[in-house]
Amino acid sequence: MAKMRVVIAGYGNVGRGVRQALARTEDMELVGIVSRSPERVRREVGDAVPVRALADSAAWVAEWQPDVAVLCGGSKQDLPVQGPELVKVVNTVDSFDNHSRLPEHFHAMDQAARENGHAAVISTGWDPGVFSMERVLANAFLGVRAYGFYGMTPKGGLSMGHSDALRGIEGVLDARQYTHAVPEAVERVRRGENPDFQPGDMHTRECLIVAEPGADLDRIRKEVVEMPGYFAPYRTTIEFVTQEELNARCAGFPHDGLVVAAGTTGDAGNSANVEYHCRWGSNPEATANILVAHARATVRLARHGGKGAYTILDIPPAYLSPLDREELLAHWM
Ligand SMILES: NC(=O)c1ccc[n+]([C@@H]2O[C@H](COP(=O)([O-])OP(=O)(O)OC[C@H]3O[C@@H](n4cnc5c(N)ncnc54)[C@H](OP(=O)(O)O)[C@@H]3O)[C@@H](O)[C@H]2O)c1
Repeated sequence: MAKMRVVIAGYGNVGRGVRQALARTEDMELVGIVSRSPERVRREVGDAVPVRALADSAAWVAEWQPDVAVLCGGSKQDLPVQGPELVKVVNTVDSFDNHSRLPEHFHAMDQAARENGHAAVISTGWDPGVFSMERVLANAFLGVRAYGFYGMTPKGGLSMGHSDALRGIEGVLDARQYTHAVPEAVERVRRGENPDFQPGDMHTRECLIVAEPGADLDRIRKEVVEMPGYFAPYRTTIEFVTQEELNARCAGFPHDGLVVAAGTTGDAGNSANVEYHCRWGSNPEATANILVAHARATVRLARHGGKGAYTILDIPPAYLSPLDREELLAHWM
């Protein structure tokens, strides 16, 4: 079988991870990278992979004949614009992670994909993505709600969005935000209480901040704890550190999370508890690996006549796997 031909669209943390993940597959090959800053990407990847301007899509599609493009742009500004444009010319997969705007992204991708006879798998990473599937499975099996907790390890999970929000405050040079699950809240869910949590009941937020010399630390502290949505509802700790200390303590992009649901089965009320826990040493690399499996599924969906937008909920797991049916039947059932 010819290898599936894959383009990476947008080259940042996730794009880098997709390149490394593709190199570990045997059935897929990276045919090129497209970017708004091709010179920057060329400096990084050298001659190993062809790099083109993202906007020249007619040219690189004609040259490379890709089966699928893995869209690695940011969810806030890039994917809502790039997604509907790129799916006009190629099948796509993305990890759009703005939950509140997910229906809007689905419909924009669905329309553009259908009009051009392509398949678009959207919002597939770990959350949204694998966690979405686990939530839906738990609800389908037990009829209860499923809860998501993040930062179960002592180090907690690095939140890029909250770190960006801290860096946006005047007087802040650099910052990281680690999310921690509240252990008592996890235990309440495990006991089957199905609590009505407020956002601040489930997680606490730990901020490490490098401030400009002479900055008003009390003002920064106040702006952080009062920031609506991001920190105001949460128990938040703030530590001011030097850049060297931040660099030493905050290497990489660790994250982890738990989907947990608890209920009962049968008339006797037997307890039933399902949990799915993942621990990622690198959030963008993990997201990239999930994206690459879904790139495989996108190509298979398209080959089976799939047109329009899909989510992880629509994809048979066998489409994700590099293993054939006989191997799956013999060893993985
Ligand atoms: N669903 C999930 O579970 C999940 C998990 C993690 C992340 N994500 C999503 O993945 C998205 C991408 O994350 P990321 O960490 O890869 O973001 P990122 O590093 O900021 O990259 C985003 C885009 O910014 C541009 N860029 C990156 N580095 C640059 C630089 N040094 N100079 C100029 N431009 C640069 C690249 O576009 P060009 O190459 O076109 O310039 C790249 O595609 C996030 O926005 C998030 O929505 C989803």
